[in-house]
Amino acid sequence: MAHHITLIPGDGIGPEVANATVRAIEATGVPFVWDRVDAGVAAQLATGQYLPEAVFESLAKTRVGLKGPVGTPIGTGHSSVNVALRKRLNLFVNFRPVRMLPALKSRFADLPIDLVIFRENTEDLYSGIEHEVVTDVVESLKIITRVASERIAKAAFEYSVREHRKKVVAIHKANIMKMSDGLFLRCCREIAAGFPEIEYSELIVDNACMQLVMRPETFDVLVLPNLYGDIVSDLCAGLVGGLGIVPGANLGDTCAVFEAVHGSAPDIAGKGIANPTALMQSARLMLSHLGERDAAMRLQRAIELVYSERKHLTGDVGGTASTDQFTQAVIDRL
Ligand code: NAI
Repeated sequence: MAHHITLIPGDGIGPEVANATVRAIEATGVPFVWDRVDAGVAAQLATGQYLPEAVFESLAKTRVGLKGPVGTPIGTGHSSVNVALRKRLNLFVNFRPVRMLPALKSRFADLPIDLVIFRENTEDLYSGIEHEVVTDVVESLKIITRVASERIAKAAFEYSVREHRKKVVAIHKANIMKMSDGLFLRCCREIAAGFPEIEYSELIVDNACMQLVMRPETFDVLVLPNLYGDIVSDLCAGLVGGLGIVPGANLGDTCAVFEAVHGSAPDIAGKGIANPTALMQSARLMLSHLGERDAAMRLQRAIELVYSERKHLTGDVGGTASTDQFTQAVIDRL
């Protein structure tokens, strides 16, 4: 039976990498029915809304989405489409596995980097609660709750047990934000106590950044509040070849939306040179989520083969291929 998926191509390079990804996962032979809906600038132009109700109606039916990046207007008062989507669908886990692809030219290429980020996805400074106290003095509220902290910690530990991971590190700044990050940390400790087989430790976020750059291969599973998770995700993407590589998934109890870590890359949009690997790898996570483990593995192997051969790579990872040429190479290997 075909899988019904909500496809949100997004803005900038979104439609380019989304089309490439659809071609690649269809080439696995798994049947899909795509319900295409727009969000972001494309939707705003067509409907006057950045996040039309049609997106939620579609996801209520399919419960699984594949999403390209969506541009967020900066400094205009519009709230982020991504934050709104994640909050309204209660996609509380942002899951980002970071692994070195074969033959990739990165300063860290010799290191066996294989870490997984669990970023809390619904609160923290992304609550979007800001106000001007008096003229030229603005306050942004950082919200940390027990419910959200416990469920992200639980997701990280349960994943670690399921996938035979050994260590979870909670990343925080509780030395300064004693109450908010203090609560996050307390929740992580309490959940950790229920998983004695997993080694648990804590790192202050600035130290964590240094350690990630100096000894990335020693990290296993990372659990972080929203803002640190956002920043550390890009840092980790940089370790393994950049934003064109790293996949992601937004997971809730009833719905899942798969999307890359990167944004709409307006600097290269429309040029046909974007690297679709990150969204293809997100689609690989989606295939596993749908129970299509064999197709997921074949897609992963095809991507890895293309990287090993180094003949059809896009510019961001040292090649000269276009989005289409890379995609065709993956399809040929499949
Ligand atoms: P960005 O991730 O779009 O781009 C950062 C740099 O990485 C750029 O030089 C870009 O060319 C490069 N890059 C990103 N993805 C690439 C790919 N697949 N292939 C080759 N190069 C790639 O970050 P930026 O410029 O900060 O954000 C642009 C817009 O994207 C903003 O409106 C932002 O709000 C939005 N954004 C959306 C996200 C989402 O929808 N999940 C996530 C992050 C940002």
